[in-house]
Amino acid sequence: MIGSNVQIQSCPQVIATCDSLRAEIQTARREGKRIGLAPTMGALHAGHLSLVQACCQECEFNVVTIFVNPTQFGPSEDFDRYPRDLEADLAALSPYPVDLVFVPSTDEIYPSGFSTAVEVGRVADPWEGASRPGHFSGVATVVLKLLNMASPDVAYFGQKDYQQTVVVRQMVRDLNLPVEIRVCPTVRESDGLALSSRNAFLSPDERRQALALSQGLKLAEELARSGEQDAGSIRQAVMDRLTCEPDIQVEYVAVVDPQTLEELNELSNPTLVAMAAFVGPTRLIDNQLIGEYVI
Ligand code: PAJ
Repeated sequence: MIGSNVQIQSCPQVIATCDSLRAEIQTARREGKRIGLAPTMGALHAGHLSLVQACCQECEFNVVTIFVNPTQFGPSEDFDRYPRDLEADLAALSPYPVDLVFVPSTDEIYPSGFSTAVEVGRVADPWEGASRPGHFSGVATVVLKLLNMASPDVAYFGQKDYQQTVVVRQMVRDLNLPVEIRVCPTVRESDGLALSSRNAFLSPDERRQALALSQGLKLAEELARSGEQDAGSIRQAVMDRLTCEPDIQVEYVAVVDPQTLEELNELSNPTLVAMAAFVGPTRLIDNQLIGEYVI
């Protein structure tokens, strides 16, 4: 949904080089504009667009990046078949007053001889980090490059990738990056499935089974609300909801401290419940903060 204070524009300017991005941003900065950045890998859906909308509401010069970042995909992951449709992405952005869409080539971001990588450490190690070795190094490296190129005042990320937001915030703190990180709530289908570019890979039957992820999170929330304090019991209940589907293979169910991502014995207030599971061949993640209320 587009907010009433968002103007309608038709064609955002698309640029492909770091130099032109910097030049445009410099001009905007000289004009005293507050610069917002929404980094994406394209295949834009309403989840991405909620970031774009927040950016356009809060900033005066709005930059969206579309780059399927090879360094955050493992060798056996879906980099090659990741959905790419620039025309559809530009159409999806057209209702928003986006000033620039940065769509670099892989060579532009990783020219021959590129050899630096950002390792964020502890918060990048468990869960997604353990399941996808190298993933967060790839994310942190590309996000740092984008932040350096665009020098935004604010950068927008989705809670859907919760651990990514923790990793990015840690990097921003550790490296004294002058940017505010904003995290926007997860956008879901009406039946609860979190929007993801990878949902397009689900068959109708897998799509039905995939509801176990959001239903497992709801179950965790209900259990916490009814007074369950034992993290292990909550984890097991979520696990049971997932494993009763024939085509779901669980990678992890994490019941953790939302800041350190360390496993809990007793619920904290709030607690993060996060999960990753294959539904058929498609890997999905989801998460929710539970217990933000007085029991
Ligand atoms: P991508 O998966 O394209 O997601 C771009 C941004 O959209 C991320 O911040 C993600 O958390 C957010 N997002 C995705 N689905 C969402 C949903 N259902 N609700 C709310 N926000 C959602 O995440 C990446 O790209 C990359 O790792 C990137 C940060 C661009 C670095 O390459």
